[in-house]
Amino acid sequence: MNLNEAIIARHSVRKYQDKPIEAEAAENLQEFIKDKAEKSGIKITLQLNEPEAFGSGMATYGKFENCKNYITFVGKKEDEEKCGYYGEQIVLHAQQLGLNTCWVALTYNKSKIVYDAEKGEKLLIVIALGYGQTQGHPRATKPMQELCKIKGDETPDWFKKAMEAVMLAPTAINQQKFVFYLDGNNVEAKTLLGFYAKIDLGIAKLHFEIGAGDAPFNWV
Ligand SMILES: Cc1cc2nc3c(=O)[nH]c(=O)nc-3n(C[C@H](O)[C@H](O)[C@H](O)COP(=O)(O)O)c2cc1C
Repeated sequence: MNLNEAIIARHSVRKYQDKPIEAEAAENLQEFIKDKAEKSGIKITLQLNEPEAFGSGMATYGKFENCKNYITFVGKKEDEEKCGYYGEQIVLHAQQLGLNTCWVALTYNKSKIVYDAEKGEKLLIVIALGYGQTQGHPRATKPMQELCKIKGDETPDWFKKAMEAVMLAPTAINQQKFVFYLDGNNVEAKTLLGFYAKIDLGIAKLHFEIGAGDAPFNWV
């Protein structure tokens, strides 16, 4: 599965099988996470077999069932966009390893989550992880024309492909609060007002880059 295929296959999954992550996949993921933590400067930690954060003993917590693994992101408030950008690389890599995921900002048990933050740092977000009971479901998206503005009459093919990948990007409450502007080969992506909109923006920018392939565009 390449990254474009992983983008299409990925949906948020909240109900997991009662099955630990296989040792080889866990090891692979650990290495991948270590690399992203080094590159981003964010503390990214994989917690395996830690059922408390999503409601041990309870059938569900929020809409979650059987979630026993998660990834925490600890950093500064201004790291949010980076957190989305690097976190989504982990989400897509997990998809390639046959795992399912869900970004989670709110619906976990805050008092039970395992993480380590120093002064000036906070728990930015969590990604739930495991083998899904299902692969999740496609959901509604805003139309492409609402998510981008193009200077000129022509929309290049590479930009359409990039925006199709953006439309599949997960966002908090599926809000899709961003706009991508194209002017020649320059692309600017801006958030609108919304919860966790900066994390959403980082995720969407990663999808844009994957969808754009080797098109020679510049972020401005
Ligand atoms: C930044 C962010 C925060 C999210 N927080 C939660 C959450 O607290 N609880 C939850 O069940 N889903 C959460 N989600 C998952 C979104 O609801 C989901 O990505 C969105 O509805 C789109 O669906 P999809 O991921 O299947 O494409 C979050 C997603 C993102 C990107």
